[in-house]
Amino acid sequence: MLVGVPKEIKNHEYRVGLTPPSVRELTSRGHEVIVQQGAGEQIGLSDEQYVAAGASIVGTAKEIFSRADMIVKVKEPQPVECAMLREGQVLYTYLHLAPDPEQTAALVKSGAVCIAYETITGPGGGLPLLAPMSEVAGRMSIQAGAAHLEKSKGGMGLLLGGVPGVAPGHVVIIGAGVVGTNALQMAVGAGARVTVLDKNVDRLRQLDLVFGNRISTLYSNAHAIEEAVLDADLVIGGVLVPGAAAPKLVTRDMISRMKKGAVVVDVAIDQGGCFETSHATTHADPTFVVDGVIHYCVANMPGAVARTSTFALNNATIGHAVALATKGWRQALSDDAHLRNGLNVCQGKVTYEAVAKDLNYDYVPAESLLG
Ligand SMILES: NC(=O)c1ccc[n+]([C@@H]2O[C@H](COP(=O)([O-])OP(=O)(O)OC[C@H]3O[C@@H](n4cnc5c(N)ncnc54)[C@H](O)[C@@H]3O)[C@@H](O)[C@H]2O)c1
Repeated sequence: MLVGVPKEIKNHEYRVGLTPPSVRELTSRGHEVIVQQGAGEQIGLSDEQYVAAGASIVGTAKEIFSRADMIVKVKEPQPVECAMLREGQVLYTYLHLAPDPEQTAALVKSGAVCIAYETITGPGGGLPLLAPMSEVAGRMSIQAGAAHLEKSKGGMGLLLGGVPGVAPGHVVIIGAGVVGTNALQMAVGAGARVTVLDKNVDRLRQLDLVFGNRISTLYSNAHAIEEAVLDADLVIGGVLVPGAAAPKLVTRDMISRMKKGAVVVDVAIDQGGCFETSHATTHADPTFVVDGVIHYCVANMPGAVARTSTFALNNATIGHAVALATKGWRQALSDDAHLRNGLNVCQGKVTYEAVAKDLNYDYVPAESLLG
């Protein structure tokens, strides 16, 4: 199969669909890969590295889209990219269609076979192609929070780990899923005092087994959240209620009574945020202050560490990319129910039920198109 990797064109997007090691996984199996010139340049992946992995470099996205049987990307296709897709071509990338009627209409019109990373499921449950970005955001949340606790960034001037003779900072993590657990690891590593809250007691049990009395675990309710947040120097919001907006667990009143110069990092901002005072920010202007509390609410945190994020994403995507290239989309989707869950739009039909329902399309089950 001929696999094409265009350069990402969304504003400030430096990730790339395939790394050179992923290209090698494909070329070593006899597939051909074409990569747009400079696709990985911004994150230290040179055209020479791609060529060494067996790819050919081409000048324009137009050439990639017109020649490739499968396009591998990171972000959802922009209108100009949708217009270049063609009937039967495979598109393998993040799509996030439910809130995006224009993109959905364009993909339906294209006739392409559109597989969304974010709805592919895993044998162990969960969404394995989303998890790496939650890992990145969770780890970054402590890094970003620690930086903003510094005086020059508006914080109270506190070192998370303290020093001998001076108490460490108190990090409170709400939500002990992928984001929360990765934040927890970093906070413990930094030497902070750590409290983690979740509604899922089994999850808290697992963390207690691993971290013992190095952390405090609390069942999440309004009382526990209030007590923890009022004592915190840094609060990380990492809750998720699947399919729903994030619950506003930290109220405006709690924020107004927090320590001045404390920091909150609302990782759940992409689902509306779990602090009542949150609104989405960008890497160009990541924070704002409410009642003396610094809010960091960047909706695409992994974009800041595009190199790490690209490699983490490729680890999760390459297996299915190889299957799609080797077997062809029909066979690969027929053989693997988890990959099939990723099929959102196929040759003019919407094959993901939630997207069809939200955007008023007829829902056509993927199975019925695979024969
Ligand atoms: N801002 C970014 O760049 C970025 C990047 C990656 C992920 N995210 C977002 O971070 C959020 C968390 O993602 P995740 O992968 O960790 O999800 P996850 O499903 O692994 O974990 C969510 C956790 O929240 C817990 N939870 C639900 N309701 C709660 C409550 N009332 N109190 C305490 N805990 C509660 C759940 O039990 C679960 O353990 C999602 O909204 C995700 O989209 C944002």
